[in-house]
Amino acid sequence: MDRSGIFAGDDPFAIARAWLAEAEASEPNDPNAIALATVDPAGLPNVRMVLLKEIEADAFVFYTNYQSKKAVEIEASGKAAFVMHWKSLRRQIRVRGVTEREEGPKADEYYASRSLKSRLGAWASQQSQPLSSREHLMAEVAKLTVTKGTHPPRPSFWGGFRLQPVEIEFWADGAFRLHDRFRWTRETTLDSWGIQRLNP
Ligand SMILES: Cc1cc2nc3c(=O)[nH]c(=O)nc-3n(C[C@H](O)[C@H](O)[C@H](O)COP(=O)(O)O)c2cc1C
Repeated sequence: MDRSGIFAGDDPFAIARAWLAEAEASEPNDPNAIALATVDPAGLPNVRMVLLKEIEADAFVFYTNYQSKKAVEIEASGKAAFVMHWKSLRRQIRVRGVTEREEGPKADEYYASRSLKSRLGAWASQQSQPLSSREHLMAEVAKLTVTKGTHPPRPSFWGGFRLQPVEIEFWADGAFRLHDRFRWTRETTLDSWGIQRLNP
């Protein structure tokens, strides 16, 4: 199979890292933004943006509130999918797989790296729950600023998810809508990858 240029290599995580690095140089904002898809118990899909914080050797990691809608849906199914698209590069990466929490030292480290306001914001926001007013949220932040001080610990309800893919598709714009697509698949996260070129 002719898989040269930007699609070359035998490690899809390395390809994703290389594409993201290119996007960091060309995107005006949030090159690491992903549209994260989940399903609710009735099978109705849900999608929202989150920021991809790390591409590990075998997984993609993002952070959120464990009581949010997305987290509840992820934990009910143990699965999620995301797409990232870069207008500046005219490329997308699609990922589907299984999830687990990242709530160890790595999550503590990432939480600690955030600004104090963001750390207190994570404490203050009951993400996805109704909020009576913005003033109420700001009052919560003010209260937590006093009670938590300048080194708040990571809330137990806030942390990461690690998505281990069973499918990754790399897509790049081609002339006359004849785009290039390569889909990497594996039965389980323990198996080796198979690669197929797909019709656009
Ligand atoms: C560019 C962008 C990045 C975002 N990044 C995050 C993120 O990293 N984590 C997060 O919990 N929410 C993030 N959000 C907010 C989510 O899109 C969403 O509003 C929130 O997480 C609640 O979603 P849920 O009710 O489906 O759980 C981001 C939104 C945008 C537009």
